[in-house]
Amino acid sequence: MKAVVCEEFGPPEKLVVKEVPDPVPGEGQVLIEVKAAGVNFPDVLVIQDLYQFKPGLPFTPGSEVAGLVKALGSGVKGVKVGDRVLASTPWSGFAELALADASRLIHLPDSVSFEMAGGFWTTYGTSYNALKERAHLKEGQTLLVLGAAGGVGVAAIDIGKAMGARVIAAASSEEKIAVAKQVGADEGIVYPTGELSREQQKAFSDQIKELTGGEGVDVIYDPVGGDYAEPALRAIAWDGTYLVVGFAAGPIPRIPLNLPLLKQCQISGVFYGAFAGRFPEANAKNTAELVGMMAEGRIKPLVTKTYPLEDAAQALTDMMNRKVTGSVVLVTD
Ligand SMILES: NC(=O)c1ccc[n+]([C@@H]2O[C@H](COP(=O)([O-])OP(=O)(O)OC[C@H]3O[C@@H](n4cnc5c(N)ncnc54)[C@H](OP(=O)(O)O)[C@@H]3O)[C@@H](O)[C@H]2O)c1
Repeated sequence: MKAVVCEEFGPPEKLVVKEVPDPVPGEGQVLIEVKAAGVNFPDVLVIQDLYQFKPGLPFTPGSEVAGLVKALGSGVKGVKVGDRVLASTPWSGFAELALADASRLIHLPDSVSFEMAGGFWTTYGTSYNALKERAHLKEGQTLLVLGAAGGVGVAAIDIGKAMGARVIAAASSEEKIAVAKQVGADEGIVYPTGELSREQQKAFSDQIKELTGGEGVDVIYDPVGGDYAEPALRAIAWDGTYLVVGFAAGPIPRIPLNLPLLKQCQISGVFYGAFAGRFPEANAKNTAELVGMMAEGRIKPLVTKTYPLEDAAQALTDMMNRKVTGSVVLVTD
């Protein structure tokens, strides 16, 4: 089969596309003919050896796929050859065939396309875990989403609206705010790029407060970090929850601890991969709920671009360069 292989850590152009032996499903595993593989920011990090999880070389990046079941390992029940599925595939998804544990696979309703499902598991799983288990988001609350047009950002908007929140999107351009509004955001704030001056940080904070009548936002979803975190936190409501999701801007923010004291607010970490590993049943329930919401049309992953499998390096480069919005998937056909 054809696979994208990371033979040495480095930028995307170091990846090679080559023929490798077909994987064989072991006990409890399922072999999937990949139709679409989701591209996520952790893929950008893992190929550069910058991620929390460190697979040994060589490996194939890609942590989620949608496709058809091609073969079953021993002991697998409830799945048959030919079933449409989506699956979590820790490091192996950017290939024509991928192995998944039967416990980390879910049937795909006919109404949901492979492309829509291929880039769904990580972004929607992360955002649902964050908003449901970490923030306990309630109907009528205000949710601020930073990096709002990115993969997890779009998922947070989509799920936030389905949960009944009023959503304020923040992103680096009017075009990205338009994407966020297409997904359902009620309001948008364009923030500057590059190093933010004190004045720019205060202006960002003031804009958030203005949109909430001075009260501040109940929940902040932050996958960006950098210079955006502190001004966002300064605009949180009393007893609000600030979700630490990622640091796409690079620097890990250092937060003055008087800020959570003054607002009696929570700063809450989100680590979806570890949550899924520690609580597989809760994660399976969440994924099933999300697939149900997708089948009912209550959430709708926004696939903005597909790339042929061979162009994985270009997809990852576009992600690194802040060029992508919504979900990006690699397709095999
Ligand atoms: N905690 C978890 O469990 C978990 C799970 C999945 C992902 N993550 C993390 O969440 C973050 C976002 O992931 P994603 O899949 O949404 O990525 P993405 O689609 O590339 O979106 C990231 C967004 O961050 C913003 N950004 C700001 N500075 C950037 C920079 N220097 N380079 C790239 N983007 C920059 C961009 O929006 P603007 O241009 O609008 O600022 C971009 O849309 C990553 O750090 C990822 O590792 C965490």
